Amino acid sequence: PLVTSKEMLLKAQQGGYAVGAFNAENMEMVKAIIQAAEELKAPVMIQTTPSTIKYGTLETYQAIVAAEAAKASVPVCLHLDHGSSFDLAMKALKAGYTSVMIDGSKLDYEGNIEVSKKVADVAASMGIPCEAELGKVGGKEDDLVAVADTNTDPQEAKEFAERTGVTSLAVAIGTAHGFYVGTPVLDKERLSEIRKVVDIPLVLHGASGLSDEDVMDCVKRGICKVNFATELRAAYSKAVRETLEDEKVFDPKAYGKAGIAAVKELVMARMKVCGCDGKA
Ligand code: 13P
Ligand code: ZN
Ligand code: NA
Repeated sequence: PLVTSKEMLLKAQQGGYAVGAFNAENMEMVKAIIQAAEELKAPVMIQTTPSTIKYGTLETYQAIVAAEAAKASVPVCLHLDHGSSFDLAMKALKAGYTSVMIDGSKLDYEGNIEVSKKVADVAASMGIPCEAELGKVGGKEDDLVAVADTNTDPQEAKEFAERTGVTSLAVAIGTAHGFYVGTPVLDKERLSEIRKVVDIPLVLHGASGLSDEDVMDCVKRGICKVNFATELRAAYSKAVRETLEDEKVFDPKAYGKAGIAAVKELVMARMKVCGCDGKA
């Protein structure tokens, strides 16, 4: 069924594992992610960014995910990823998203608190969880090359969580969106320090390109949600491209199936690394 992210993230926090959150661009990727969750009996979050929403619209993604989630035995959450404004977060809530992120990390500290609190308040009144981000995860959404940015300060994170009332917090510890040039350097001690003073579930962005060891170590230190985007897009497109090399292929179902299989395999592998398999 389609559910909010509240219970699944709190259960993950209590159980010491993380829920995988996977960005989908189309129906095939939604099906692949839910099939992976079904096969592994895992709770799952499917998320869309502002650029994805601009491409396909909130209502269309909501309809696809709601229809697929209704058939699923595992809990499925539909989350707004990197909500870029109060307005977009409101539109997502209205469209039936069951979790939202407001990303005010480009604003100054007080500006970030202000917009995050505003979204968290409305979301809470509707029973919907709200994620915010403090510090800057590097790279750019939808970009292929990642550079780390400003890391989260533990004391600021504590105050931020208290003042905004958000229900989960994305932290910056050296990860970045997109694939990494060279080996990412993660400030894992900082993550442990944040976890000591912040009670709400912590979120790791930029997981494409991270080693299994790095993801597992971050989960052990208190990450409850891990975001994967770029590597799903890459896997989907590679499988489609290979199928289309045969010029006799003209049925979209043929290469769609190949894309689904590739994404499903990758999502299952990442779920096992997060430890959410068998947790539904
Ligand atoms: P990657 O593209 O590096 O997997 O980052 C995903 C992400 O953080 C989505 O919000
Ligand atoms: Zn992100
Ligand atoms: Na990344």
